[in-house]
Amino acid sequence: MAFEFIAEQLAQQDSMHRLRQRRCIAEQSGSKLIYQGKEYLNFSSNDYLGLNQEPRINLAMQEGIDKFGASSCSSSLVTGFSYAHQVLESTICQWLNKPRCLLFNSGFSANYGVLNALASQQTQFWLDKLSHASLIDGALSGKAKVKRFLHNDYQQLERLLNNKSLSNNLIISEGVFSMDGDKADIQQLQLIAQKHKAWLYLDDAHSIGIVGNIGQGSSSESDNIDIVMATFGKAIATSGAFVACDEKLHDYLINFSRHYIYSTAISPAIAWATNKSIEVIQAEHWRREKIAELSSIFSSTLNEDIQLIPTSSSIHAIVLGNEKCALEIADILKTKGIWVTAIRPPTVPNGTSRLRITICASHNVNNIKYLAESINKAIH
Ligand SMILES: Cc1ncc(COP(=O)(O)O)c(C=O)c1O
Repeated sequence: MAFEFIAEQLAQQDSMHRLRQRRCIAEQSGSKLIYQGKEYLNFSSNDYLGLNQEPRINLAMQEGIDKFGASSCSSSLVTGFSYAHQVLESTICQWLNKPRCLLFNSGFSANYGVLNALASQQTQFWLDKLSHASLIDGALSGKAKVKRFLHNDYQQLERLLNNKSLSNNLIISEGVFSMDGDKADIQQLQLIAQKHKAWLYLDDAHSIGIVGNIGQGSSSESDNIDIVMATFGKAIATSGAFVACDEKLHDYLINFSRHYIYSTAISPAIAWATNKSIEVIQAEHWRREKIAELSSIFSSTLNEDIQLIPTSSSIHAIVLGNEKCALEIADILKTKGIWVTAIRPPTVPNGTSRLRITICASHNVNNIKYLAESINKAIH
């Protein structure tokens, strides 16, 4: 029989407690979601700043539909690039102080599309061990050499770079890491890149909106990062992604990034709404301050013997070990009306299944105390 591996691999996933299934969420707004008629406090959303369903952004989306339509109707190089896209690109350039910016349909396609376009025979990618799947797949997609360094281990990175053999070297890191919530040291990475005549690529998916005095992300922590990518699908609360860079790379990507060239441009209505969201993010500092305040209440209310990975982001990871244990604790929390998804391999390394808790500006102090106390009771 053809494709027997499909049934085999599903059965194997199931036996390892790794089978992934979707759940259809009936409603999702602010800190709450409704699933099968029951309301839960949502601690698994990436809407860090609480901007999903924000009336000003919804209004801009409607305005965008009225002005430009829901669809861009073609790729950017045909007729898909509109005034809405141009305005958004220019907002992002000013926000991050970068000369140029390009919009992609998703963070996955931005990472893949850029790395694939840079992957020549004379290119070597140096990736942090905890890099997102899109970075790994993009790096492996072309003819480049790929080496991964231990997570945030810059001594090892330097040792490896001392033996580099190719002329085009790109160091790749996330600003805030998606599954651990800890940060890269951007200044140090930038110094290493300069010293070794490498470029630096920053995936700011989990820092954009959160880090920086106007939410401009981790690139604010050092001058002149060569390439910054971030998705709109998390704190910005729309969808799509951008890549910010210099003029030359911008022109190169327009000509050689297959994901950019051969894909319908993002919806102009979404671009218009995203522009409004970035305006709100720059102005409303209280959202970032609230995440910091609630995060500190969370860690101080948890029992001392519960190990949290240290973080200054919205993401708080409690590593529990095996898949079964993480699923059981998540199920206990569900009975208390708390939604926290158990994250299992291969998303995280074997033996590090965890609760990944996200604290958002839409939560309040009582929500956070209830969460911490429920976790204290569930893990004993
Ligand atoms: C670090 C990182 N990079 C890239 C992506 C992909 O972004 P998007 O969801 O827009 O495809 C994600 C999202 O899961 C992410 O966590």
